[in-house]
Amino acid sequence: MNDKIRELVENCKSRISDLSNMAAAELQKIKSESLGKNSELTNLLKSMRDIPAEERPRFGQMVNEARKLIEEAFADAERKMKEKTLRDKLEKERVDITLPCDNAVQGRGHLHPITLVADEIMDIFKGLGFEVLEGPEIETDYYCFEALNIPKNHPARDMQDTFYITDNILLRTHTSPNQVRVMEKKQPPIKMLCPGKVYRSDDDASHSPMFHQIEGLVVDKHITLCDLQGTLEAFAQALFDEKTKTRFRPSFFPFTEPSVEVDLTCSNCGGKGCKLCKGTGWIEVLGAGMVHPKVLENCGISSEKYTGYAFGMGLERIAMIKYGIPNIKLFFENDARFLKQFR
Ligand code: DAH
Repeated sequence: MNDKIRELVENCKSRISDLSNMAAAELQKIKSESLGKNSELTNLLKSMRDIPAEERPRFGQMVNEARKLIEEAFADAERKMKEKTLRDKLEKERVDITLPCDNAVQGRGHLHPITLVADEIMDIFKGLGFEVLEGPEIETDYYCFEALNIPKNHPARDMQDTFYITDNILLRTHTSPNQVRVMEKKQPPIKMLCPGKVYRSDDDASHSPMFHQIEGLVVDKHITLCDLQGTLEAFAQALFDEKTKTRFRPSFFPFTEPSVEVDLTCSNCGGKGCKLCKGTGWIEVLGAGMVHPKVLENCGISSEKYTGYAFGMGLERIAMIKYGIPNIKLFFENDARFLKQFR
């Protein structure tokens, strides 16, 4: 190899000997300057025609050897460049897995108090053999009222201030319509719970336009009011404590006959009388009754053969009693100071 060619090779090698501050694009640029159409190497090949014919083969061989050396040098540099890029990337994106995670700063999320109470109540009833069957929040007049023995223009409709979407479609005011949906599909024995959101045009410290209810329905042969009382007492004792007693007061719901309001001995004072129970020792928690024969018949269930009981309770009300919460709005304002207490 003559000196000129050797110098050319050395020169190329030295340009790429230090890659530490070189970008991949720069390396490619040097490569095309060294081996491309306008490179010195290509010019050397072009100059072959000025060389005497007998020296040409040797000269050609030297230039080819030089090209091979330069190509090898670039292959080597490219491999190193690839490794360097990967190393830089790993270094830059390194994660210190020993650092405390955000959770430690923010606090871990947890269930909303209404969800907690709903889960607890459903667990108790599931233990008594109830199954959970949910229904739609947007209902028809028929399921929400008509089928439950609340005819159009009947004064009983005033008991539930309703958000109508059209004359016939509305936001359900209670979870009771799902009683009808379940009974239409299924013959007794029925033992079901329906939890969910309900809506009423109502708004004060103990009422919210949206709140939650759990509905219960049992239909079978020989079901009596005593079954209702026994079941609700077992439920109340599981939710509060074994000393909790239940009391039935006569009431009216168009879909039950007889109808009752159910009181529990006050969980705060145990029945002695306190501020929570307004000195009476009792707290009203739910409405219930024996399913009206007309409702059974509306759903295609024989009221001669079967009887049933039903109940409906407001979850916010139960949670307010259980945790001593003074205002229903606290459930829906999402103030972390309030919610954190239920972790
Ligand atoms: N649906 C009633 C309400 O929202 C509560 C209720 C009362 C449900 C008696 C029942 C029942 O299933 O039997 O006010």
